Amino acid sequence: MSHPTRNNEPRFPDGPAPDPAGSHFERRIRSFQPRRSRVTTSQGEALERLWGTWGLDIDGRRVLDLGAMFDGRPVVLEIGFGMGEATAQMAADDRDTGILAVDVHTPGQGNLLGLAERAGLDNVRVANGDAIILLREMLAPDSLDGMRVYFPDPWPKKRHHKRRLIQAEFLTLAATRLKPGAVLHCATDWEEYAEQMLEVLDAHPDFENTVPGGGYAPRPAFRPLTRFEGQGLDKGHVVHDLLFARRPHA
Ligand SMILES: C[S@@+](CC[C@H](N)C(=O)[O-])C[C@H]1O[C@@H](n2cnc3c(N)ncnc32)[C@H](O)[C@@H]1O
Repeated sequence: MSHPTRNNEPRFPDGPAPDPAGSHFERRIRSFQPRRSRVTTSQGEALERLWGTWGLDIDGRRVLDLGAMFDGRPVVLEIGFGMGEATAQMAADDRDTGILAVDVHTPGQGNLLGLAERAGLDNVRVANGDAIILLREMLAPDSLDGMRVYFPDPWPKKRHHKRRLIQAEFLTLAATRLKPGAVLHCATDWEEYAEQMLEVLDAHPDFENTVPGGGYAPRPAFRPLTRFEGQGLDKGHVVHDLLFARRPHA
């Protein structure tokens, strides 16, 4: 069953289109695979009820007023929150920080909305669509106080490496949206992707490692275990955190 919206287009529980701003003719990093996964009844209800207040469709058509959206709080962008458990936990642990959480995964969007409602969180917004469009078209320069990319899809096959999010082209865009000193925090359990992350971040002129002496960061206490991390640990994977700050403007 689908529920009509104001302009009578069916929308939920099938969820918003995975990439409302998507154009398959445009060249950009494609770090996600559109997937149709089942939205549970409670996720569908959460989407239906809460999307209008806490949701944001990434249509690439306007620059967001983050100050108004988050009541003047500093804002951290989380890219690829999955089912959102870690996002909700971090938002509950630090209610003075706004979290703009983006993913294309509809069940996860419903899940995070439900978690945020149950915990009474007013510092989380759930964005639907491609983080690249969000960054490029909808966020102003120097608008973010931090960025989190936890367990991004590793795209293990060599021919898919170009789809990995953490690469020079992405970092160049991300750097423009981060305030000087703002930290990009990445974590992965994919050893060879961790090495790539370290290599491209070390080489990028706009970022500097916050770890004295360089290399991976010790796992910060503020990052909860994520769902994908748990799956990686079950397989015996080693997790690496990387914490790089946006360099001051030249
Ligand atoms: C491997 S999952 C990790 C989820 C979560 N961070 C965790 O650790 O459990 C990666 C997530 O990133 C999302 N994703 C990948 N590229 C994205 C993009 N360009 N914009 C928004 N979400 C993206 C995927 O849909 C997926 O849910």
